[in-house]
Amino acid sequence: MSMDYIGIDLGTSAVKLLLMAGDGTIRNVVSREYPIFFPHSGWSEQRPEDWWNAVKDGLKALLAGYDGKRVAGISFGGQMHGLVILDGQDQVIRPAILWNDGRTAEQTDWLNNTVGRETLSACTANIAFTGFTAPKLLWVREREPENFARIAKIMLPKDYIAYQLTGVHSMDYSDASGTLLLDVEHKCWSEKMLRLCDVETNWLPTLFDSYQVTGAVKASVAAELGLGPGCVVAAGAGDNAAAAVGTGTVGEGRCNVSLGTSGTIFISSRSFRVDRRNALHAFVHADGRYYLMGCMLSAASCNQWWMDSIIGTRDYAAQQAGMEARLGENTTFFLPYLMGERSPHNDPRARAMFIGMSMDTTRRDMTQAIMEGVSFGIRDSFEVAKSLGIRLTGTRICGGGARSALWRKMIANILNLRVERVASEEGPGLGAAMLAAVACGEYASVDEAADAIVRVTETIEPDPALAAKYQQQYLRFQKLYPAIKDWF
Ligand code: XUL
Repeated sequence: MSMDYIGIDLGTSAVKLLLMAGDGTIRNVVSREYPIFFPHSGWSEQRPEDWWNAVKDGLKALLAGYDGKRVAGISFGGQMHGLVILDGQDQVIRPAILWNDGRTAEQTDWLNNTVGRETLSACTANIAFTGFTAPKLLWVREREPENFARIAKIMLPKDYIAYQLTGVHSMDYSDASGTLLLDVEHKCWSEKMLRLCDVETNWLPTLFDSYQVTGAVKASVAAELGLGPGCVVAAGAGDNAAAAVGTGTVGEGRCNVSLGTSGTIFISSRSFRVDRRNALHAFVHADGRYYLMGCMLSAASCNQWWMDSIIGTRDYAAQQAGMEARLGENTTFFLPYLMGERSPHNDPRARAMFIGMSMDTTRRDMTQAIMEGVSFGIRDSFEVAKSLGIRLTGTRICGGGARSALWRKMIANILNLRVERVASEEGPGLGAAMLAAVACGEYASVDEAADAIVRVTETIEPDPALAAKYQQQYLRFQKLYPAIKDWF
């Protein structure tokens, strides 16, 4: 019997579950939303119990009318950096503090300036950003000592789901990279970081490569969800590494841009390397090697905020009608810092703004400014990569925003790169299912799975005239943050 695999993309707005046949055919995709809480400006939290209920509900729907015994393995792409803490009975102590939460400005300053960037970079290959896990642990230690005293286990969002499925406390290297507790180059915990953050070794899950089996689904859970006995779980990856697998961004010097709640530019590498200024993250990849990444905290979510909360429409395409003729000519700009910004500015206090409007500015100009502002934000990180001597000729693209042809065209012309679209926009979910397939021996390696499964369906070449216009626009955009920075 040919076997199938499930990829679980535990995102920020929803979980997406994908059922894939061994040859890469997508059989079914379902998604389930859950709430996100912003208890203060710049804070963001979710309840791990909500994730688990959504996953269970989603798995049942995914497998409805289907023989669950054909599922050989399950794996994950998970929102990164979120702090999940469990007590001695494996009960959740407090809501998870998410990757786009900016409450830890003080702890991040202490790490970067008192412990020092050089020390952090030497121990972990990265510096502290407010969304990373270690500053959150310091925040809980200082602000909620009663909760800190109860900690028996720390994990990342997807690892909580893996634990519910298997009873095993696991974490993979790609996701562990974003804790600021991992020595990324040597793929082990950094003793010095554990000491600095008062983390006891037995709080930490066992580390795995993303494509390794961590355990089998518990019999009681398998029975409840309609899975067969012997279905295994593979460690999975942070969502960006999983998305890179799903778009075939593995091996040397490949690139993927993701336009999801966050926006990322991801560059895979066969060897370990670090950005001297640490503006880009240096993390372990889901193929067992490494990558560099710039991450902006609000990307497609800027457009979603504008459409849903401000304009009040679900018809995104209608708002983009007529925009194509005006690309490269917008006099309205948007700074996309709705949740502060990570790469490359590392400024949790930054906020979004429109600038440059006049009496004839239209709603469409403002919508366009949002899509362009996000693309310019990606270009900011791309500039850092270029300054490291990285030369790219093209990039893959995924995420909800990549469904817009206009946004794909903007990315191609603002980055001045060939953009390749692949058959599925479900980057992390597909990548996760591929990791499960590798773990179960369907493919010998992640590279082999990517070669067999990922197909390019559309190529967008930059247009020299438009790229030149956007070059001028970008030079103007680039001046905005430094000019307004002190005001934030
Ligand atoms: C990456 C990051 C985001 C989240 C989104 O460092 O924080 O891309 O992983 O889920």
